[in-house]
Amino acid sequence: MARKKIRWMDGAVPFLCVFLVSNFILSKFSMIPCRLVLLAALLLSRDADALQVIGGSVTVVQGDTATLPCHVTDTNDDLTQITWQRRTRAKPHNDNFITIQPGNRLQFVHGHDDRFKYIGNFNDKNGTLQLSSVTLKDEGSYTCIFTLFPSGNQKTEIPLNLLVPPFTNIKDNLPTLGTEEVLFATCTAAGSKPPAEVRWLTGALGDKVRTTTNSTQYDNDTTTTVSSLFGVPTREINGHQVQCVISGDSLTKEETLPFTIQVYFSPTEVNISVISEDSFECVTEANPNANFTWSRSGQSFMQSAVKEEGAKLQLLSLTAYLNGLYQCEAANSYGIKHGQLYVHVASGACSAAWASFGLLLSLDVIGATWFFYKSGRFQKCLRQ
Ligand SMILES: *[C@@H]1O[C@H](CO)[C@@H](O)[C@H](O)[C@H]1NC(C)=O
Repeated sequence: MARKKIRWMDGAVPFLCVFLVSNFILSKFSMIPCRLVLLAALLLSRDADALQVIGGSVTVVQGDTATLPCHVTDTNDDLTQITWQRRTRAKPHNDNFITIQPGNRLQFVHGHDDRFKYIGNFNDKNGTLQLSSVTLKDEGSYTCIFTLFPSGNQKTEIPLNLLVPPFTNIKDNLPTLGTEEVLFATCTAAGSKPPAEVRWLTGALGDKVRTTTNSTQYDNDTTTTVSSLFGVPTREINGHQVQCVISGDSLTKEETLPFTIQVYFSPTEVNISVISEDSFECVTEANPNANFTWSRSGQSFMQSAVKEEGAKLQLLSLTAYLNGLYQCEAANSYGIKHGQLYVHVASGACSAAWASFGLLLSLDVIGATWFFYKSGRFQKCLRQ
């Protein structure tokens, strides 16, 4: 609370004179009742000299409600009006905007603003205002003026200071596999007042990553702070968890944004693994995860004979009709790779029909000749 002493210096001198003179007179005449009257007068005069307008300094978070406190103490003067002036970002020139008359009658000087509420009391010489949904435009200096009789206008200034919490986000720069340092992500605290601090917690990654931070201040005194995370986009660093921590006076508590470093790459080698004698699974590594599509070269799928479920292919009936080359395509937005499977259902040598598989090295469609040669070599009856 800022206490403003009114007329203290002016008051001290007359007070001293009256005191000395009265003592002189009293000592001369020793008139007791008169001495009492004079003392009472002195006390009153002292009271008036200690009149104070009490205000304060207010700090509020944007959007919240601010209380602009203002009242007068130590006076028996008559109050005729309370006037509020302001000088804000929106209106840089000091002007009257509210007057309060006896009976708590509030009047707006230039147009109504519902956000202001009079929460003081005229009879108590209390002019306190409440301002809700505070914006940066309201920041500035508010002056309350008490029009008193006989002491005249008494005022105090109340600075209103705004805190603006930042908008925060992490943006993934979508790095792809490589050997050179690249930007992984940026963490931003936009439009903070005062400026926010932005830092990365990278834990075990240590010097495998590097960060830089930049700030831009705007005309309205808000600041955008951006911190960037750099590193070499390897398979090892893919999937590591880091955090961006944003702190500062404009935030009631630290904000922590988790981030998983993602290194994007197209499907690597496609392998086909055998789950059972009639079902197979296409396996690859990719980020983001690959989508799988099975097809049969040269022929359409017999819907009734095979079942395709994502990476899995199941042969429903083991007949020679299913013999042939099957292909699994693994794709994501970064690329496509294929794997092949040669299915041979033996009908003679083995008692029942079994799928024989020839395999399936990945890489894009390998020359069919080579493939058949290779599959022929591995071809065998599964239950020999
Ligand atoms: C401050 O200025 C910036 C840039 O002009 C603007 O994007 C932002 O919204 C402003 N902030 C406030 C709280 O008015």
